[in-house]
This record gives sequence, structure tokens and C-alpha cells, in this order.
Amino acid sequence: MQKLTLTQPDDWHLHLRDGAAMRDVVRDSARQFARAIIMPNLRPPVTRVTEAAAYRQRILAALPEGSRFDPLMTLYLTDTTATDEVLRAAESPVVHGFKLYPAGATTHSEAGVSQLEPLYPLFATMERHDVPLLIHGEVTDSDIDIFDREQVFIDRHLAPLVNRFPALRVVLEHITTREGAHFVRDSRPGIGATITAHHLLYNRNALLAGGIRPHFYCLPVLKREPHRQALLAAAINGNPKFFLGTDSAPHPRQQKESPCGCAGCYTAHAALELYATAFESVNALDRLEAFASFHGADFYRLPRNTRQITLEKSSWQLPQQLTLGGDTLTPFLSGAPIEWRVSTP
Ligand code: NCD
Ligand code: ZN
Repeated sequence: MQKLTLTQPDDWHLHLRDGAAMRDVVRDSARQFARAIIMPNLRPPVTRVTEAAAYRQRILAALPEGSRFDPLMTLYLTDTTATDEVLRAAESPVVHGFKLYPAGATTHSEAGVSQLEPLYPLFATMERHDVPLLIHGEVTDSDIDIFDREQVFIDRHLAPLVNRFPALRVVLEHITTREGAHFVRDSRPGIGATITAHHLLYNRNALLAGGIRPHFYCLPVLKREPHRQALLAAAINGNPKFFLGTDSAPHPRQQKESPCGCAGCYTAHAALELYATAFESVNALDRLEAFASFHGADFYRLPRNTRQITLEKSSWQLPQQLTLGGDTLTPFLSGAPIEWRVSTP
């Protein structure tokens, strides 16, 4: 296949940051995606509807002229989130879900949730008002191996949660394991999952073989090859529970290339090209549109996009460096060749 035209996709998991950094990255997402679910892990986090509405205005103001990108906002769940805030979120046209970060699980998760059970009344309110719950599904216990954190979270926390709240819509974000893919596949309707391009393309060798490669470090961390294969199988099989979420997460280069490099891969510069590369590797380009453009919109009960976007087979070189506010950003696979290119419609 030399050319692929599909309904314009959406990104159901995106970090845009704020201020000058945001101005440098938002155009990459807006170039490809019509909409994106915007993660609330700013510092301080976006915990209220009023803050989400203000953040959304800052995103819109940072867009290039003529861009039609629609940011879909989320609120950051904390130990002190009030029931009233859930009710306000349910009423708000701007907010599309709550994001649950276990405290300490990932970048900017210090204000996250320390225990789930005390929040059960909030989940009941979300269930009653049909507000989706988006979950970073990893335990943080120091005795649990970092490669097992997703699976243990599912067993200990997610399985009981989805049984206890049978109508709550839940997205298990950026799944990385066979257990995650199978849990979502086998669970009741209303449970979905996003999958990143980097988890479809790479296993943990990319991170550790031949040297420590900080630009492959994200959370949840890359896993073994059989897990990557299971994610690919989930992404291409047409199951509406699985949809595109880049988890594109920009960080200044010096914070990733450091004795304690931070987690997050920036993929927005070539997101759809990276997904196309993954789907093509298993001869499944014909399955890309449903995964990228239909399943997420259907899950969030939003209309599917009507514009189209074209990918062409054409070799080009990914940028070496980008700018991020006053800093340098090393994009994912910086300087590497790639075989697909979005040709602007
Ligand atoms: C994300 C970030 O940098 O905000 N990092 C990451 O490794 N994915 C946070 C997150 O989604 O876990
Ligand atoms: Zn994320």
C-alpha cells in the first residue's frame, strides 16, 4: 500500500504541559488529530472544572491560526476530591473524565491517590452520572517488581473496582502487558484501553540492550516481547475496547538525559506515522482507521470525525531536536528514518 486515507484520528491520551512548552508541542498534535483527551498532571494538577476550563482556553490560545483542534479536558483525582466536583464535571461540556494516578506511580503524580477504597463514594457518583474514570494502572509498592506493576494493579484493584461499579466506564490507560490487554478484552462492556505507539513498536530491549536509552523510558515501562505482541494483537483485531492514545509526554532533554532521567516519550511529532509503522509490520493497515478514528469516539460517546487525513509511503528523517519552551526536546526516534508521512490534506 502506498497511500492510506482515513477519517481524521483523535488522541485519547495526551500530555500538553502549559505555558511556553505547550506552545511548542500543541501544533504537532493539532496537525494530525482532531481532538485529544488532555492529561491533568500539571504542577499543580488540574483538579477543578474551573481550572480545566481555563487550561482549555490556554490550549486554544496556543494553537496555530486556523487550527480546529478540540481539547477534551480531564480532572486529576486526589484524596480530597469532593463529590460536588464530580457533579460539576458531569454537568460540564468541557470535562470528559477523571484521571486516577496512584500517588508516586509516574511523572507529576505526587498529588495522586494513596488508597482507592476511601474514594468509592466518588466512583459511585461517577457511575451514576456516567463520568468516565481514566486509570494509570500500576501499583507503587516497593516490593513489587516494576515490570509487574500493571498486572498486580489489575488483580488487586481494577478487577474489584469494575465489579463493584458495574456501570462505571473505565479506561485502563496505556496498557503494556498481555494481562492488561486480556483483562480489558474479557471484561464487561464499558471497559476500554488506550495503547501507545511506542508500546506497539518496542520491547524492553530498546531501553536496556547496549546501554541505557533514556528516550525509551516511560511509565508504564516497556515490557518483554510477548507483551508487545499481545498489544499489537489487541490493537489490530477490531475490538472497539482498544483505541489510540499516544501518551506523548514532552520533557526537556536534560531531564531525560540525567542520572535520574524522568519518564515520558514524546511521540506527537510523528504519532500517526509511528502507529502506521506498527500496523504495517503485521499487515494490518486496514485496521488502523477503526483503532485511531472510531473506537475512542464511540467509547466517549462523541461523534466520529468527518474530515479525512492521508498517509503516504515516503521515507523521511524524524527531527533530531525540537524546542520546548526555552529547552531542547529530543523526540522519540530522533534522527531515524520513517517510511510513512501524513500529507497535509
Ligand atoms: C507521563 C508524563 O510525563 O507526564 N510520563 C510517562 O512516562 N508516561 C505521565 C504518565 O502518563 O504516566
Ligand atoms: Zn500519560
